[in-house]
Amino acid sequence: MRMYNEINIEKIDIDAGPPSKEPDRQYYFMAKCREWVKDFEQRYGRRPTACVTTFGCQMNARDSEKLRGILKDIGYIEEQEERADFVIYNTCTVRENANTRVYGRLGQLKPRKKKYPHMMIGLCGCMMQEPEVVEKLKKSYSFIDLIFGTHNIYKFAELLAARFEAGRMVIDIWKSTDKIVENLPNERKYPFKSGINIMFGCNNFCSYCIVPYVRGRERSREPKAIIREIERLSEDGVTEVMLLGQNVNSYGKTLEQPVSFAQLLTEIEKIDGIRRIRFMTSHPKDLSDELIEVMGKSKKICRHLHLPVQSGSTRILEKMNRRYTKEQYLALTEKLKRAVPGISLTTDIIVGFPGETEEDFQETLDIVRRVRYDSAFTFIYSKRTGTPAAVMEEQVPDEIIKDRFERLLKEVQIIAGEMCAVHEGTIQEVLVESVSEQDHSMVTGRLSNNLLVHFPGREELIGEYVDVLLRECKGFYYIGEVPK
Ligand code: SAH
Ligand code: SF4
Ligand code: F3S
Repeated sequence: MRMYNEINIEKIDIDAGPPSKEPDRQYYFMAKCREWVKDFEQRYGRRPTACVTTFGCQMNARDSEKLRGILKDIGYIEEQEERADFVIYNTCTVRENANTRVYGRLGQLKPRKKKYPHMMIGLCGCMMQEPEVVEKLKKSYSFIDLIFGTHNIYKFAELLAARFEAGRMVIDIWKSTDKIVENLPNERKYPFKSGINIMFGCNNFCSYCIVPYVRGRERSREPKAIIREIERLSEDGVTEVMLLGQNVNSYGKTLEQPVSFAQLLTEIEKIDGIRRIRFMTSHPKDLSDELIEVMGKSKKICRHLHLPVQSGSTRILEKMNRRYTKEQYLALTEKLKRAVPGISLTTDIIVGFPGETEEDFQETLDIVRRVRYDSAFTFIYSKRTGTPAAVMEEQVPDEIIKDRFERLLKEVQIIAGEMCAVHEGTIQEVLVESVSEQDHSMVTGRLSNNLLVHFPGREELIGEYVDVLLRECKGFYYIGEVPK
C-alpha cells in the first residue's frame, strides 16, 4: 500500500540537473535511479529486487517503509532477503546484541556478494550514527555499497544515485539535523493501519540510553502536516493510526507555536474514517492530566498505554535520570486506571542497571505486582559506550543479573496471564490483521487494549472490525468466535 504523492516522476527532466528544494530533489534522483533500473532490466531480462530488513523499534520500522516506498518508485521489486539483489539493513544500537546480530548477518552476506558481484548491500539506521561502527565497517566489511545514518534517510535516492555513479562504497553520515523533509513516498505493510512520525529524536538523556546520541535532539512535526498525512491515509483506507515518537508526551513543546500532545490527539480524533488511535512511547514524567482527561473522553484512543517504568527503585530511577519516583509512577497509573476504566498498561523494565542491589530489585518486583501490567518487555542492562551509565561503578555481575531477570520474567508472566483472563467471556471489537499463521482457517486480530485474538474466519475479514466473543484466554492471547 502506498501514499500518493504529488510529484510525477515520469515527467522529471533528468538532464536539467538536480533541484535544490526538497523533496523535489529526491524525486529527481529517483528518476535518475530509474535509468539504472532500465539498464539492469536490459542486461538481466528482469527488474532488480530489494529487501529492507528492520532491526529495532517502530520508528525504524516506519523508516523502512519510507525506504521501500522509494525503492518501489525507482522500479525495484520486493523480494525475500535470501534472493534480493539489494539488501538493506536498517539497524538498531539500543543494546549490544542488536549490533552483534547485524555483524553476524553481514558475515553471512559476504560469500553471497562474492558469488554475485552485482548484488548490493546498504546499511542505515541508528548503529551508523556511531563513528566506531562506521570505522569497523570500512575496515572489515569493505564489500558494503552504501552507508547512511538516521538524519539523512530522506536522501536515500540521492545516495543510491551516487553509489551507481561512483561504482564503489558511498558513506554519508550527518552528526545532527534540524530538518524534517515531508512528502516522500512510502510503502505501508498493512493497508488498514499505519505508523506516523509525530516527532523525531529525544532530549531526555536517560543515563543508560544511546538513542539521544544517535537520533539527535527532539523535533516535532507541525500539527498541520500530521493531520494532512492522516487525512490522506484515511482516504487511502487506513482506520488505525499509531503516532510515533521517543517521548510523545512532550510533543509540540519545541514548535514555534507550541501545541500539546493532548491537543494534537483531539484534532486527530476529528478525522473521519479513523477509528483507532494509538501512540508510542510515553514518558511518565511528561504524562499530563490534560492527556489523561482526553484519553478518558475519547472514543477513538485505544485503551492501552505503554508506560516504561525501567525500575521500581527510586534510587535507581534517579541514577537513570528518569526524573520520577516510584510513588509518582504508581500515582500516575492509579489516575489512569480511574480515568480510563479497563485500560491495559504495558511497560519496559531494565534489570541490572549499575549499582542495582537485591533491595532495588525487590522494589521493581513490587511495582510490577502493584501496577499489574498486561505485559512487560524486560531487558538486561547493556552498557552503551558514551552514555553516563557506562562509566558508573558497581556494574552488576552477569550471574546476578540473569537470576534477577528470570525471577522478574516469571512474575511478569503470571500477572499478564491473570490480566488476560479478566476479559475471558466478554465480546469485544477486533480489528482483523491477517490469516492466522498456525491455522489457515483462523484469522488474527487485535483488541483495543492491544491483545491478540485468533478466531475462525477468512481472508476477506482482513481490515474489518468484528465483534468477537473471547472464548478462551491462552496467557497472552485469546481464542475467540463470532457469536451467533
Ligand atoms: N523512548 C522510549 C524507549 C526507547 S528504547 C522510552 O523512553 O520509553 C526501548 C527500551 O529499551 C527502553 O524503554 C529501555 O527499557 C530499553 N533500553 C534502552 N537502553 C537500554 C540499555 N542500555 N540496556 C538495556 N535496555 C535498554
Ligand atoms: Fe532513551 Fe530515555 Fe529518550 Fe527513551 S526517553 S529514548 S529511554 S533517553
Ligand atoms: Fe534502536 Fe534506534 Fe529505535 S537505537 S530502539 S532503532 S531509535
